[in-house]
Formats: sequence, structure tokens, C-alpha cells
Amino acid sequence: MAVVPATLNSTTLVGAAILAVLLLVVLRSFISHSDLDKAIPSVGVPRGPFAFYRGAWSFLKNGRAVTREGYLKYPGRAFKVPLANRWLVVLNGRTLIDDLRKAPADALCFHEGTNSILFLEHTLGHEQHHDPYQATVVRTPLTRNIAVCFPVIRDEVIAAFDDLVPATTDEWTTVPAMQTVLPIISRVTNRFFIGLKCRDPDYIKLTTQFALDVTSDAMWLHLVPSFVRPLAVHLFGHLETATRSAMKHVGPMIQHRLEMDDKYGRDWPNADRPNDLISWLIDEARGHPSRRNVRNLTRTLLNVNFGAIHTTTQGFLHALYNLAAHLQYVEPLREEIERVVKAEGWTKTAMGKMVKLDSFMKESARFVPGGAVMGLRKVLKDFTFSDGTTAPAGVLVAVGVLAEHHDEANYVNGGTFDPFRFARMRDDCGEGTKHQMSTPSHDFLVFGIGRTACPGRFFAVNEQKLMMAHIITTYDFKLKDGVFPEDEWIAVLGSANSTAEMMFRKRK
Ligand code: HEM
Repeated sequence: MAVVPATLNSTTLVGAAILAVLLLVVLRSFISHSDLDKAIPSVGVPRGPFAFYRGAWSFLKNGRAVTREGYLKYPGRAFKVPLANRWLVVLNGRTLIDDLRKAPADALCFHEGTNSILFLEHTLGHEQHHDPYQATVVRTPLTRNIAVCFPVIRDEVIAAFDDLVPATTDEWTTVPAMQTVLPIISRVTNRFFIGLKCRDPDYIKLTTQFALDVTSDAMWLHLVPSFVRPLAVHLFGHLETATRSAMKHVGPMIQHRLEMDDKYGRDWPNADRPNDLISWLIDEARGHPSRRNVRNLTRTLLNVNFGAIHTTTQGFLHALYNLAAHLQYVEPLREEIERVVKAEGWTKTAMGKMVKLDSFMKESARFVPGGAVMGLRKVLKDFTFSDGTTAPAGVLVAVGVLAEHHDEANYVNGGTFDPFRFARMRDDCGEGTKHQMSTPSHDFLVFGIGRTACPGRFFAVNEQKLMMAHIITTYDFKLKDGVFPEDEWIAVLGSANSTAEMMFRKRK
């Protein structure tokens, strides 16, 4: 008898707690939306009761279509769409994108924008939230070392493909595309970051799983009030486990580097100091005790992996699917790659001269950028755009990238996949760097734009081109189903198809 009331009581308590949380969310969103309501038109919000939440639910399923609708309805202006508990202001057109590009970080902030979605303090750690020095390291020493580390990176491309796509005979081998490309990119990227330890299967699992854990932790943290988050993360979050596991893999190596750094600085005996991300992070940590320890350096390495692996995998898979769906472009690419390699060898200079390949990769990223919005910023103080629209402090803004990339005003036949369009543009105007993949612009936004445009883009482009050149010169390949596998969309995120299969055989 006593059990029934006890069950009822706990059920009632849980029910009350859920209701309280929902009320908090409703109240918070109501307060934070009120300033915006009149200033910026909304798209994707039906009429009637609970309109915002019905709109937000529908946005989860149709985010791509809703942002497209806003783009067509409000050309060159801003509109807002409902996320689960807040508005997102989407910017259209060159002028507003330029405003976002030029805005100072204390007005439109990339870091706080990311924090609003990912809860950096809880998912990547306190130090990563308050002192994200990895961007400086990626921007300067890492990028400068691409050329000198190129042979090592290529060595890993060959070894990883040999292991995971062993097409040594004339027979076709079928592999799951995503599950094959992801570990290859983890290996190739981490060969540059930490050396040969990149091959450890547990480390590959850790680096590929970490980004998924960060995103899923962030998703459920949105459902929890802020005062409960530290406890919730302590109980259910993945960061601590990932840090401990990463420290098992790279902790002793980092400890040794720190000890050698104390003894010799950068000039180790026999010039033996490894030239990799760990060393460049240690250089940047000099004079900062909070950075210069095994735990912080490990977390920073995890964070760079978080930014590097899935992004590169998505872009690469899109390009691979596009090439396999348009096999007529393999031959011209092969011709270019073999001609350039004959003259330059497998070098970074050679990658720079593969203009058709660059154009192919860029067109693929233009056509399927992997999302409907990019360039997320949080408004830190009321910001008035050139068209007179004011976005109030606290609001999130972003650019409608998919619609920009397909706009006829930006690209002739923007709705058509035209892989050599950027190569032709380079021929026509002779401006080599302007049309290459690593140059962000108002009409090519895959790497973001402005001061925070992805600092890893030079590495990402070289890595993707090298991998694609390797595939084109080593294998024959095709899609098992023959057609471009559809992206998988949630709200404004479009991920490359995760179940498609590819077939490879030794090149005939
Ligand atoms: C194709 C692959 C990649 C894509 C599409 C990509 C995309 C982006 C985007 C959109 C941003 C935000 C820029 C903005 O909103 O202005 C960003 C930031 C960043 N990316 Fe990448 N990324 C890629 C690869 C990489 C790689 C390989 C690394 C590291 C080696 C990296 C490191 C970073 C870092 C550290 C930031 C933060 C910049 C800051 O704090 O200022 N990314 N990336």
C-alpha cells in the first residue's frame, strides 16, 4: 500500500520539475524575443497558439526550406527563424555579410556565438572557453609548416588508404564511405598533429567520437537550466572521460616534450625536436602556466581535433560523392594531377598548381556547403546593419550560406554543378588567389568570413586535395548506387550521407 503514494509522489515531483523547466524556457524565450519582434520579420512561424514553438518544431525538419523562403522573400535584408528556445537572425546579401565581416568582436562575437550553441565551458572545458589560443597556433605555425611536413602527410595518406581501401586486385571492393573516410582523415590530420601515434585504433576512435560527444552533450544541455548544467555535466558529460583517455595516449609524450623544453628550449640535441602541433602548442604556451601543462595541452589538442576532423570529412565526402556521380571529370583531373606531379613532385607547390582539382573541390563545397547558415555570431551590444535593421544584444545572427551559394546574382547557373567554373574564372581574370578554394568571400562562405574565418583552411584544402589526387591516381571508383547520395538534414545542418557505399578497384 505504501508503495503507491510514494510512486505517485515521485511522479508528481518529476512532472512538476519538467513543468518548471518548460515554464523557465518559455519565460526566457518570451523575454529575449520581445525586442526583436517588431524590428525583424519572421519566417517559418505559423499563426495561432504556441506559434513560436510550432515553428521551431517545424524548423527542425524544414530548416533548409525555411531559410530559402526567407532569402527569396527578403532579398538583401535580415529575417528571423525560430530555434528551440530563441530566434536566429539570418542575413542576406553582400552588404549585410560585409557588415558582419567588418564588425568588431565586441559587437558581433564568433566565440560567444559558438558558446551559445555548444556551451564551451562544459563541452570543451573552462580553459578552452576562456583562453582559446589554438586559433593562433593553427593560423601561424601550423599553416607555415604544411609545406615542410607535406611528405609526412602524404606518407599517411598512402598508408591509411592501403589499410582501409586495399584495392590491390582488378576486383571491385565495396566500402561504407563515411566509416572509411572518417578514420582516414583522423589519421592523416593527426600525423601532422602528433606523429605516428595517429595510427592507434583507440586514439582514432577517441578523436572521431569526441566531436559527436561534444555535439550531443551540447544538445541535451540546452534542455537543462543553467544552474543545473555543472552537475548534469559532471554526471553525464563526456569531456572528463575523453580528457583522461586522451591523456593516456598523448600525456607521456607531452610530459617528455615539456621536460625537454625546460632543458633545451627549442634547440634539442641533434635537432631532434618533433615538428608537430604538440611542439607548436608548447611554443605558444611559453610564459603561460595555465596553458603549459599536460592536461591543458591535451584538451587543446582535442579541441583542434574537434574543429578539424568532421568538417574535413564532410567536405571531402561531398566532393568524393560529386566526383563519383560525375565520372566524366575523372580523366581531366587525372591529366592535370599527373602533369603537375611530374613537374613538381608530390608537394604543396604541386597542390597549388592543381587548378582544376581546386575548382572541383570548391564547386563541390559551394554546391553542398554542409549547412544552410554559417558565420554564427552573438550580438554583444545592439548592432545596426547598413540597411537600418538593429539586432539587439543577446541575439544570434548568421549568414544564409546555402541560398547565397546558389543565388544567380552570385553565380551564373548557380543551381548547376559546374566543377571547373572557378578554374575558368581564374583563366578569365588572372586573379589566382581570389577564386581558389581557401579564399573566403561573400559568395563562398564554407570557411566563414572575416577575422575568424577558419584558420585551418589552408591545411584542410591541401589535405582534401592530396587525398582526392591520391584516389584519382590510384583507383577506379564508383558509387554503389550510381547517384549522388542525399544529405541528411536536421534544421540548418546538412551532413553528408552516412550510409552510402563506394566501390574501389586498382586503377586499370
Ligand atoms: C573543410 C574543413 C573545414 C571547414 C569547412 C571549417 C570551417 C570553419 C568555420 C566555418 C569556422 C568559423 C569561422 C567563422 O564563423 O568566421 C571555423 C573555425 C575554426 N576552424 Fe575550421 N574548418 C575546417 C577545417 C579546420 C581544420 C583542419 C582546422 C585545424 C587544423 C580548423 C581549425 C579551426 C579553428 C581553430 C577555428 C576557430 C577560429 C577562431 O577561434 O578564431 N578547421 N572553421
